[in-house]
Amino acid sequence: MKVMETPGGYELYKEKDCIGRCTLRKIPQGAVLEELTISPEWRRRGYGSYLLKEALRRNGGYEKNRESFFTAPLPADRGELAFWAKFGFSEQGGRLERRRRPDLTAVQLVQDFLRCRLCGPKLCIDATCGNGGDTLFLCNLTGPGGHVLGMDIQPEAIASTRARLEKAGIQPERYTLVCDGHQNLLDYVRPGCADAVLFNFGWLPGADHGVFSTAATTLPALEAALEALRPGGVLTAILYSGKTIGSEEKQAVLEYLRALPLEKYTVLVCEFANWADTAPLPCILIKR
Ligand SMILES: C[S@@+](CC[C@H](N)C(=O)[O-])C[C@H]1O[C@@H](n2cnc3c(N)ncnc32)[C@H](O)[C@@H]1O
Repeated sequence: MKVMETPGGYELYKEKDCIGRCTLRKIPQGAVLEELTISPEWRRRGYGSYLLKEALRRNGGYEKNRESFFTAPLPADRGELAFWAKFGFSEQGGRLERRRRPDLTAVQLVQDFLRCRLCGPKLCIDATCGNGGDTLFLCNLTGPGGHVLGMDIQPEAIASTRARLEKAGIQPERYTLVCDGHQNLLDYVRPGCADAVLFNFGWLPGADHGVFSTAATTLPALEAALEALRPGGVLTAILYSGKTIGSEEKQAVLEYLRALPLEKYTVLVCEFANWADTAPLPCILIKR
């Protein structure tokens, strides 16, 4: 079975025979579906589901981090509404609609906060650059005049981050990537000059889960980050716990953050209250 893209949408082939068609018009967030048909002799065997799923997938309908929107005409036979409902379509104002918004994640929460809080930051630090998602976010946040320092202890993380920034077209003079522990942060920046320092602890996604941050280096790194921040600067930290990494680092960081003096720092611990205890825990600190 093969789905081929055509100028007007997609065709479903079983060996050499075209047995289904989905016509659509692409829009930036998804597509306007015009028709979905399967040849009568092949109906009720899952081919319609296969073709519709493929049309959704190829237009971003299953991307976790992207908002998407699809519409389709109401089926003449209302009995087919259940079929469309299986793929998230519901009746809205005389048409079918499928709207998906990405779930709020810990990473999204801290990035949204930084975007709202910082205006044209000049120096941002990604203290755990991993695969570079946060480093890229910071490069876009700082803009042409700013600079981003990215740190990681794993050479493959630095390489992965560099590749990501290059692919995104970020000019090399806009960032510095160093393969070093974040506890040594003050070897690279002067105290009191960073607008933001981000920590996303845990392990490098897609790599050896045996390499992860621990309290022994995390606490000195937080100490260094507080010194690096300018007044009004923001530190964010996403904490993890679970079978592999335990909860020692998370507990130690929480104890550390909760003991910081109120007259110098505002500290928020933003728990996903109706999720598991092991849900990522975003923490936000503002230096006064
Ligand atoms: C969850 S990942 C970071 C994800 C990353 N921010 C991204 O957007 O892809 C955690 C990273 O922290 C790094 N790490 C662990 N201990 C570290 C340390 N002492 N100093 C710097 N990086 C460390 C790991 O190598 C790993 O790449």
